[in-house]
Amino acid sequence: MPADGRVRGEPADLGQPYDAVSRAFHWLVVALVLAQITIALVLPAVLPKSAEDSITAWHLATGSTILLVMLLRLGWRLSHPMPPAPTDLPAALRILARGTHWAFYVVLILLPLLGWMAANAYGATPRLLGLLPLPRLLAPDQATAETIGGVHKATATLLFVLIVLHVSGALYHALVRRDGVIRRMLPG
Ligand code: HEM
Ligand code: HEM
Repeated sequence: MPADGRVRGEPADLGQPYDAVSRAFHWLVVALVLAQITIALVLPAVLPKSAEDSITAWHLATGSTILLVMLLRLGWRLSHPMPPAPTDLPAALRILARGTHWAFYVVLILLPLLGWMAANAYGATPRLLGLLPLPRLLAPDQATAETIGGVHKATATLLFVLIVLHVSGALYHALVRRDGVIRRMLPG
């Protein structure tokens, strides 16, 4: 039984769901991040070497789209109230969930910026949505490119850790606490 004496499966005091725009941003970013992980890690392993240039073009286009969407999402997040965590959630879990949410914002803005800098240093020009060339942040330089590329890859690993933590939290709410937290982020 949850700490407040509530019967398992009974809805906790959850207040309002996330607004429709926040929900749309959430699932759009999930789709873009899954696409980006497939492009960065799966396609190079299954496609022939001759596809490398188009895989890179897709990586830069999808990544810069994530940057744009995350900046719009941050603007929305800071200017609209979000529903509070369930009142019966232990303080440590509430802090962990909040920390993970804000870490997503930081990582999903920092990661594309590092990628943009690495791409410039390798001599490439990323195109927003695959169309609009982005301004050059750094001059081409192989050593700088490899260093920033390394930090970019390490930050991508941090993103994977956050995803595992976050999805474990979502499953904990859905399967163990059964408190309706998932419902407030689902479409409709
Ligand atoms: C959320 C967005 C992004 C994710 C999850 C991501 C993920 C990754 C991963 C996992 C790798 C390593 C691939 C491998 O070694 O096989 C990589 C490499 C790279 N990414 Fe991204 N990336 C993102 C955004 C971007 C953006 C926006 C750009 C450029 C505009 C970019 C440019 C690069 C470059 C140039 C490399 C090669 C780095 C090197 O080998 O030194 N990435 N990315
Ligand atoms: C790439 C994967 C994901 C990312 C980057 C992500 C990111 C986020 C962020 C940033 C928030 C906080 C929203 C805000 O306050 O602005 C959030 C909330 C939430 N996410 Fe995700 N998410 C991902 C995948 C998932 C998946 C797969 C599920 C479901 C299984 C999920 C379920 C939820 C739920 C239920 C909330 C609301 C939590 C609450 O009310 O405290 N997320 N997510």
